[in-house]
Amino acid sequence: MRVLVFSDDKALGGFLSSIWREVCFDAIAKRGLFVAALSGGRTPREYYRMLARESDLPWDKTHLFMVDERYVPETDSDSNYAMIKDALLREAPIPAGNMHFVHTVGADAAGSAEEYDNEIRNFFAVSGNDLPVFDLIVLGIGKDGHTASLFPGSPLLNESGRLAAAVFLKTAGHDRITLTLPIINNARQIVFLVTGEDKAEALRKTLRKKDDTMVPASLVHPEKGSVVFLVDAGAAMLLSQTEYEKV
Ligand code: 6PG
Repeated sequence: MRVLVFSDDKALGGFLSSIWREVCFDAIAKRGLFVAALSGGRTPREYYRMLARESDLPWDKTHLFMVDERYVPETDSDSNYAMIKDALLREAPIPAGNMHFVHTVGADAAGSAEEYDNEIRNFFAVSGNDLPVFDLIVLGIGKDGHTASLFPGSPLLNESGRLAAAVFLKTAGHDRITLTLPIINNARQIVFLVTGEDKAEALRKTLRKKDDTMVPASLVHPEKGSVVFLVDAGAAMLLSQTEYEKV
């Protein structure tokens, strides 16, 4: 696991694009496809915009899923899909069928989570207890240490069967749908994007606590994959110099 501290957004975003590029070309060389899952929230927006400008990436062989979604219409400013559409899909020429978003109209959050779970299973053609393998998952960390829509003390932290599940938590702002830990921890590469002094405590706890259900981000450690934290100086301010590398 590496923690890399960047001096500005341009450097951090450029590094995300370089990791994306490396994992993408490797996945396509080996399996003919690159499959990633993206988080929403505020942090990634600017970095997704930078990524979208990488016009020589094989976007036609790229499939995108959502790490989580708020159960709101796409027109709602809190929609993660709306943010990804605006920041990434508007410029990156990804075929419409390659974007696997969570349907948030019609059914209820539970029905939507089940539908999304099935879409993931069908896409990866997995059956039974097999777990799909995402090539890359982009995660954020909330001030409370949540990641995806896995919140402190949530019973979902022990979920072992479902790949995606609904979250009904008043403090989460909206009903949500989220990937669960087994599929997150089965990824080949995980990239955490964490910026701002307001995330410093959550980042410190994430790095220093192991498997603390009150800090869900500390439960992310893929058995076979790698994790890298791309952070800014504000988020790193409570870390010791031995815990990170300045880039
Ligand atoms: C969400 C995200 C969530 C996010 C963190 C950090 O739907 O909110 O997927 O897990 O990554 O809450 O959010 P910010 O980037 O807005 O600080």
